[in-house]
Amino acid sequence: MPVILIGFMAAGKSSVARILDENFVDTDECLSEKFEMSISEYVSKYGTDAFRQQETALLADLLSSDRAQVIATGGGIIESKKNQSLLELQTDVVYLQADFSTLLQRLKKDSLCQRFIFENSDLSDLEQIYKERLPIYEQLSRVTIDTTHLTASEAAELIIEKTPF
Ligand code: S3P
Repeated sequence: MPVILIGFMAAGKSSVARILDENFVDTDECLSEKFEMSISEYVSKYGTDAFRQQETALLADLLSSDRAQVIATGGGIIESKKNQSLLELQTDVVYLQADFSTLLQRLKKDSLCQRFIFENSDLSDLEQIYKERLPIYEQLSRVTIDTTHLTASEAAELIIEKTPF
């Protein structure tokens, strides 16, 4: 079964996944390639629900094949009940956690990466989304790693220690 990294935007999922396996699959990258446009462009054209449906189809597809050893997911993948059910069946779901202010600082620095949730939410909305998602990330994961003070390499080392990876 693959190691699946979940967590809020800017938790470091893709950076850590790349260290674990250079052939990791990034759900946002896969979808953006499929759409032939950025996720933000896709969402402004077709809406969030359409994006979430595409995300679900991709996750189901990835989990029913052995295409990926390591999967970095988009931060909102845990919102759909279908995805929650798919993730509940997985043994190696790792939650990369960080406090809200750290994530916010990272998001502000990462201006190259467009994220529709970040672009279209004010600070209190964003914090609300963070608070709502937190228990879901916790419930779905077998391992939680607090990345607040860790480099991506340190987080990857902990994952290697704590999972059969
Ligand atoms: C989203 C997170 C993004 C991307 C999309 C929506 C979210 O992925 O899937 O912009 O709802 O939190 P990252 O977590 O990789 O930034």
